[in-house]
Amino acid sequence: MDIVQKLKRKTLRALFRYDPSYTDMFTDKSELYFARLYLHQTHPYWETLEDGAKILDAGCQSGRFTIPLAKMGFEVTGIDTSGLSLNHAQKHCRESGVKAKFLKGDIGRVCPSLEEGSFDAVLCAEVLYLHPHYETLMKNMIRVLKPGGLLVTSHRTKFYYLMKALAQKDYPTARFIAENNEGSLWGTYFNWQTVRQLRQLHQLLGLRSQGIHPIGIFSEIYLAPGELEPSLQDQLFQIEKDPFDEITGCTRYLLAVGEKIPASHSDLP
Ligand SMILES: C[S@@+](CC[C@H](N)C(=O)[O-])C[C@H]1O[C@@H](n2cnc3c(N)ncnc32)[C@H](O)[C@@H]1O
Repeated sequence: MDIVQKLKRKTLRALFRYDPSYTDMFTDKSELYFARLYLHQTHPYWETLEDGAKILDAGCQSGRFTIPLAKMGFEVTGIDTSGLSLNHAQKHCRESGVKAKFLKGDIGRVCPSLEEGSFDAVLCAEVLYLHPHYETLMKNMIRVLKPGGLLVTSHRTKFYYLMKALAQKDYPTARFIAENNEGSLWGTYFNWQTVRQLRQLHQLLGLRSQGIHPIGIFSEIYLAPGELEPSLQDQLFQIEKDPFDEITGCTRYLLAVGEKIPASHSDLP
């Protein structure tokens, strides 16, 4: 997108909350398929929380997870930098008959203003892979977690970008992806991890790793699940929802769940 188009898009978004290129992840067919996978993988963790537990949805966009979590009986707060997204999220909340609180701003700025240890869980899906300072953002989220609280984050995989580069016969980029974990790919910054690296990241951040789960083994890498007719989509879901230990890293996203270790149990200084 050239600079004039970018400016036009930003102005339309800011003045009229209008953007024809905007994908509402709460209504998009493929994103709904992935939401189903996320909710399937996270269900056992949400089940450990009490009714009314406080969940922060960091980078909530239009509420793809805020709303299902609120429906489960949790007290959900969504943060997003995008006013347009928060408008969509509020509208979906009203239409779904649920309540949630929304805060506009950057996770890195809003989290420090929230009370330390005030959330039972923080969800941050499909946000961190775009941020060079993703570790700092994670530290901000861990700060607001109660001891024993859950940090649920999703991360792009090395496999996903390798497949993208190889499919385009872009072998120099494929080599760069294989040898690095972040950088500019096709003009945009991304970071990517393997299962082992996510476990190491949890350890570094003082989290007890609870699980690493696949999100999209075949879908979106090879086809858009939203384009499949419902019965085929369901057959694909039944396969993708299973934990394939040997190939967990060969997925579109990895969902990582870590528990904040109470200070007295932590080996960290
Ligand atoms: C790809 S969407 C994912 C939305 C949602 N988590 C989901 O999975 O449906 C990323 C969202 O994160 C928001 N975002 C990205 N970086 C952010 C930041 N540093 N602070 C707050 N929101 C951020 C974007 O505005 C966007 O709405």
